[in-house]
Amino acid sequence: MTRVAERGRVTELTAAEVRRLTGDHPRCAALHERARASMPNGVPMSWMAKWAGPFPLHVTEAQGSRFVCADGIEHVDLCLGDTGAMTGHSPAPTVAAVQRQVARGITVMLPTEDAALVAEELTRRFGLPQWQFTLTATDANRHVLRYARHLTGRPRVLVMDLSYHGSVDEAFATLDDAGRVVARRGNIGAPVDPAVTTAVVQFNDLAALERELRRGDVACVLLEPAMTNIGIVLPEPGYHAELRRLTRETGTLLVVDETHTLCAGPGGMTARDGLEPDVVTMGKAIGGGIPSGAFGMTAELAERVRRSVELEDIDVGGIGGTLAGNALSLAAMRATLTEVLTDDAYATMLPLGQRWADGVAGVLERRGMPWHVTRLGARAEYAFSPEQPRTGREAAASDDFELQTLLHLSALNRRLLLTPFHNMALMAPTTTSADVDQHTAAFDDVVASLLA
Ligand SMILES: Cc1ncc(COP(=O)(O)O)c(C=O)c1O
Repeated sequence: MTRVAERGRVTELTAAEVRRLTGDHPRCAALHERARASMPNGVPMSWMAKWAGPFPLHVTEAQGSRFVCADGIEHVDLCLGDTGAMTGHSPAPTVAAVQRQVARGITVMLPTEDAALVAEELTRRFGLPQWQFTLTATDANRHVLRYARHLTGRPRVLVMDLSYHGSVDEAFATLDDAGRVVARRGNIGAPVDPAVTTAVVQFNDLAALERELRRGDVACVLLEPAMTNIGIVLPEPGYHAELRRLTRETGTLLVVDETHTLCAGPGGMTARDGLEPDVVTMGKAIGGGIPSGAFGMTAELAERVRRSVELEDIDVGGIGGTLAGNALSLAAMRATLTEVLTDDAYATMLPLGQRWADGVAGVLERRGMPWHVTRLGARAEYAFSPEQPRTGREAAASDDFELQTLLHLSALNRRLLLTPFHNMALMAPTTTSADVDQHTAAFDDVVASLLA
């Protein structure tokens, strides 16, 4: 099936799905109409406008792996707040801990006992002994980039082409066709030309990585251990070992962003694959949905930070957040990490990720579709090319926004919510085999209609 041949069909099927969505959701449509009067695009944060269809569903309740929209329709949630709710919505232990804490002080700007307990648990999982807490993964990454420049005295950071690490200025850089660093499409209001702050290489390209690191001006490499934000791109065998060797040899800090790859296991890919980063960053799911973020450092790095930052200036150095490390988010992280995202939870989630990927792969094979599916633990994704990509650039080349819109709408009309950025599904401990099979059947339907 070529892109051109399917286009008219995609448009026609999309129009039918939009009619169905609109017919099924009059109340969501009305709420959206009202919201447009007071919020751009009728949403509280700009990118919520990206959901497929003329309006986003409004939610009245979310519980476990399901949510009910304002029209009273229950949906299976495979987006899970783009990982923020990987625990399932409102997990009971987190809710109980938050209820207890919320009545006993939400933010005091003093530590509670939970802070050290969470730090110890993260050490057990990721092997890094010193932790700091933020409200988001974005903040964790921003702070670590500052520390890296501060400690190494080097001006640039290195990221993978078409990666995503939150609203981090330095990371919105890409390579143009001539291999030059330029602002990524959609990067609005950049403070400086990203070529000044950032080196960019393709994921899995060790030669380019070595070339950039040997210039001696890169403070740190910031990467997801497998890319998850341009579709899933897995590391090739030996990639991480060589990355570690090169960063050590060139005195470059290695920062592994586990925000999404925490789907690979309780200690993310760091523990699963025996990685040895200098810093790990994360956020989203670790607080069960309560705003939470963290970064962990080696003892040596933490000591260098401690020795080099004056106490008098510690609050104005660019690292901070008044509400960071607040009692409520620490209580949520403690309960989530010790009672929700447990080893047992992963024992449920990982096979479901496999079942989802197998279901999609089965449809593709039966229907002869030249697409592929990739899995990383409890997360899986299909993309519109026959081969698994090796790089972000290859992954981006197989994207197709119109086709994606159709697939998302079609899933939604079959009561399944996919992540609005590419075609990703995530399994929570509360996801069931029946939920997964419902997706396989719905996917089969839409593929069949594309071929009809
Ligand atoms: C790998 C990665 N890091 C960091 C972030 C930023 O998370 P947040 O927007 O919650 O700060 C994201 C968000 O999608 C992410 O995928």
